[in-house]
Amino acid sequence: MAYGFVGTGEITAAIVTGLSDGVADPPSVFLSPRGRAVGRGLADRFPNVRVCSDNAEVVEQATTVVLAVRPPIGREVLSELSFRPEQVLISALAGVSLATLRRWAPTAGELARSIPLPQAAQRASLTAIHPDHRIARELFGAVGQVVVADSEPALDAMSAATATFAAQLDALATIADWLAGQGLAPDASAGYLKHLFGALGQTLLHSTDTLATLTTKHMTPGGINEQVLHDLRDAGHGEQLRHALDRVLTRLQGPPPGDHE
Ligand SMILES: NC(=O)c1ccc[n+]([C@@H]2O[C@H](COP(=O)([O-])OP(=O)(O)OC[C@H]3O[C@@H](n4cnc5c(N)ncnc54)[C@H](OP(=O)(O)O)[C@@H]3O)[C@@H](O)[C@H]2O)c1
Repeated sequence: MAYGFVGTGEITAAIVTGLSDGVADPPSVFLSPRGRAVGRGLADRFPNVRVCSDNAEVVEQATTVVLAVRPPIGREVLSELSFRPEQVLISALAGVSLATLRRWAPTAGELARSIPLPQAAQRASLTAIHPDHRIARELFGAVGQVVVADSEPALDAMSAATATFAAQLDALATIADWLAGQGLAPDASAGYLKHLFGALGQTLLHSTDTLATLTTKHMTPGGINEQVLHDLRDAGHGEQLRHALDRVLTRLQGPPPGDHE
């Protein structure tokens, strides 16, 4: 297998690291030249990785091409590429439908969409794909687990769910900042929060309980967790989150940026 990556940024770095780091027989990887520092870093670190002279060379060398540029330039980038019919194109672009990809890349063989996670670097991504595709399963199975969305709207909704990462982390930063305001050293505050929620993440990963049960298990009736939960619920926190998710889903299912047809 020879994977070509068009777009060598954060997510490509994570996938390529997971494919290569400590792997006895890693696949060949061809990277586009943009994102020079990331590409050079990966090529210096892993002998199976090579930076190509342009995007066309990536497509030439690869059996499977992963598209990982930012959505607004997807159309422009694909318009300059011509694929062989047996080449699979796997897109990581949020909010760019299969129909749009087909229009942007008429010569590509089969198409698949994906939502890889940065944890691919530790081979711990749970990558959602649609449609089910053997080659997409093989690629993302090598950097974690794969979940197949049974429809495109379902994949878009999962993509919207991943759009809450920054807000969740910002909530942790707010708590750490508040803690520092109580007199703890900022480093100690941040370290404490990372540990608390890192451990909670492990609980989530290994628990078979529902989220509602886990919530109940983390609060004593009449206790302090319950108080914060009620304060935030009463302030409309849950409704605000649903509203933000609705808005991001509308955006993901609307016309893709950079598409001027
Ligand atoms: N990051 C995530 O966690 C994540 C997760 C799932 C999906 N995605 C999707 O993956 C895509 C990439 O995200 P990212 O976070 O990796 O973005 P990023 O770090 O900004 O990487 C994008 C890369 O594309 C390169 N690029 C710009 N113009 C190019 C061109 N004409 N040809 C080839 N490469 C070009 C950029 O190079 P320069 O630096 O030289 O401009 C940069 O290295 C997005 O569509 C996003 O929706 C990201």
